[in-house]
Amino acid sequence: MNATEGRDSERRIAVVTGAARGIGLAISSRLAADGYAVALWDRDRALLDDGVQALRRDGAHVLGVAVDITDRGQIDRAFAQTVETLGTPTALVNNAAILGRRGPTVDASVDEWKLVFDVNVFGALQCAQVVVPAMVKNGWGRVVNVASVAGKEGNPFAGAYAASKGALISMTKSLGKELAETGVLVNCITPSAADTDIFGEHDESQRAQLQARLLERVPMKRFVRVEEVAEMAAWLCSERCSFSTGAVFDISGGRAVY
Ligand SMILES: NC(=O)c1ccc[n+]([C@@H]2O[C@H](COP(=O)([O-])OP(=O)(O)OC[C@H]3O[C@@H](n4cnc5c(N)ncnc54)[C@H](O)[C@@H]3O)[C@@H](O)[C@H]2O)c1
Repeated sequence: MNATEGRDSERRIAVVTGAARGIGLAISSRLAADGYAVALWDRDRALLDDGVQALRRDGAHVLGVAVDITDRGQIDRAFAQTVETLGTPTALVNNAAILGRRGPTVDASVDEWKLVFDVNVFGALQCAQVVVPAMVKNGWGRVVNVASVAGKEGNPFAGAYAASKGALISMTKSLGKELAETGVLVNCITPSAADTDIFGEHDESQRAQLQARLLERVPMKRFVRVEEVAEMAAWLCSERCSFSTGAVFDISGGRAVY
């Protein structure tokens, strides 16, 4: 038996951040279907309860942990609760993010950018800092960072969001190279627009306008389905992904050209 086959018989435990809804919930559901025990981490306790109940009704082995990933103390506690209840994570999906206020980049305040970076970059960084050492100790792990095509191409009037996703892509590359010999692979995915509540921070007409503009740039002319993103994330979390690290996986309906 080789090392890859050996993993199949072992317990799979995943942490998914921002898992109460949208892409995070879809990834949690997909990983649960693959046999993972999944810890859903989210700061929205009510939504999280709903998400956890829905997955449990489908027979999933899941744990909901209310945690704000901008707070290192809360992440430490969430990790301890996850380890105690499910075991040491073998996969971490850094998915939680916010879009931030839309508007001209030249008018944005530094505080607005900090708010976005606190979640999208420093949140993901701190989750990795808490979870990855245990993976390294075990000699195996998978980290998947959910970035965005915006991080490659920029998005007008969403400067902080696009810059934060660019930072997450670079962080993926650095961490992937640092950990390349440890058995822990670190990759990111760059979806184009999905029809989720992330646009809900805007009113309906702004949301419709924004989504129409986003779809104009997608050759396939549709939103990516959350299940499609989940499928890619599940592969990256698995043993089937074995020779990719520090890599950026496109899922943008033909939008991204690199
Ligand atoms: N929807 C899209 O068009 C799209 C496109 C490309 C990439 N993405 C990325 O996919 C990921 C998921 O997006 P989504 O559309 O499902 O978003 P969403 O807004 O539907 O869900 C995000 C979840 O993250 C949680 N969250 C936010 N801040 C948090 C914090 N500080 N601590 C813990 N939880 C927090 C929210 O409570 C929410 O449940 C994000 O990283 C996003 O940038 C989304």
